[in-house]
Amino acid sequence: MCKKTIVAFLGVIIVAPFLYLKIPAYLLKSVGINQETHPYSMRVVNEYFEPLDRTFRKRGPSFLALFFLLEQKAAKGQKEFLIVETGSLRAEPINMPEDGASTVLFDNFLRSYKGELHTVDLDPKCKDIIEKHCSYSTIVHTGDSVEFLENFKRAEYIDILYLDSYDLNWDNPEPSAEHHLKEIKAVFHKLKPGAIIIVDDNFEHNGKLIGKGYLVEKFLKEKGIPLIYDGYQKVFQIVPQPEDLEKIDQILHLVSSRTMKFFFKIKKYVNKICALV
Ligand SMILES: C[S@@+](CC[C@H](N)C(=O)[O-])C[C@H]1O[C@@H](n2cnc3c(N)ncnc32)[C@H](O)[C@@H]1O
Repeated sequence: MCKKTIVAFLGVIIVAPFLYLKIPAYLLKSVGINQETHPYSMRVVNEYFEPLDRTFRKRGPSFLALFFLLEQKAAKGQKEFLIVETGSLRAEPINMPEDGASTVLFDNFLRSYKGELHTVDLDPKCKDIIEKHCSYSTIVHTGDSVEFLENFKRAEYIDILYLDSYDLNWDNPEPSAEHHLKEIKAVFHKLKPGAIIIVDDNFEHNGKLIGKGYLVEKFLKEKGIPLIYDGYQKVFQIVPQPEDLEKIDQILHLVSSRTMKFFFKIKKYVNKICALV
């Protein structure tokens, strides 16, 4: 082998990992996500956001938008966060593709930031499961979600209200949608500007849009609350900041672009190779 080929070969070996590590981080930085100011959004992109993998795909963009918005608040000086979730982590092993594992994602966020997650579920078994997988920042309540929200004392401080209780029956979606409507009605009047509301499990079935959130959407629309992301999860924000929405558009555009998909693909292969050695 001639000297030039050896130098080129060594060049590729040395430069490739550098490009692989640096380019995605550089691209994310260009749309406002960087390790210093948005570490958890970065983690969501690196660990959970995987457009090539169905595990997280349907909830990836909305979770990314959501954690980005929380970290925007942190960047502006907010020190503590209050997250309220209806429908808790219920399965072991953790069933991310089906349930979303939102309880774990919120708890992980609160391992880096101060605050509390209050999660409520009818099923008392959730408490044991959550105690195994979550930190002291997560407070588990057992009971009906509507009653819980009606009596929740600090509703005016809620940053995230995540609605994911009463399971959806695809052939009869109304009871679930009505339950989630009751949840939002129980607490809406107390929510502050900037509060984010998310409803899980919305999709098309037999050519019809169904899910937990369509009645919540109608209710919030009547109140003038904008839907800032519409997909498998519906995300609303009370008085969103236009500059944040612009950034979210750019971020979601980037992470679903061909360039990023290329890097996600490389990462997948690198991980596979690393698992073999
Ligand atoms: C889809 S799971 C929640 C999944 C969880 N958010 C996660 O990501 O892992 C729905 C949960 O809602 C609970 N649930 C159903 N009806 C409820 C109600 N009226 N009040 C509180 N929880 C309820 C169920 O017991 C079930 O555990």
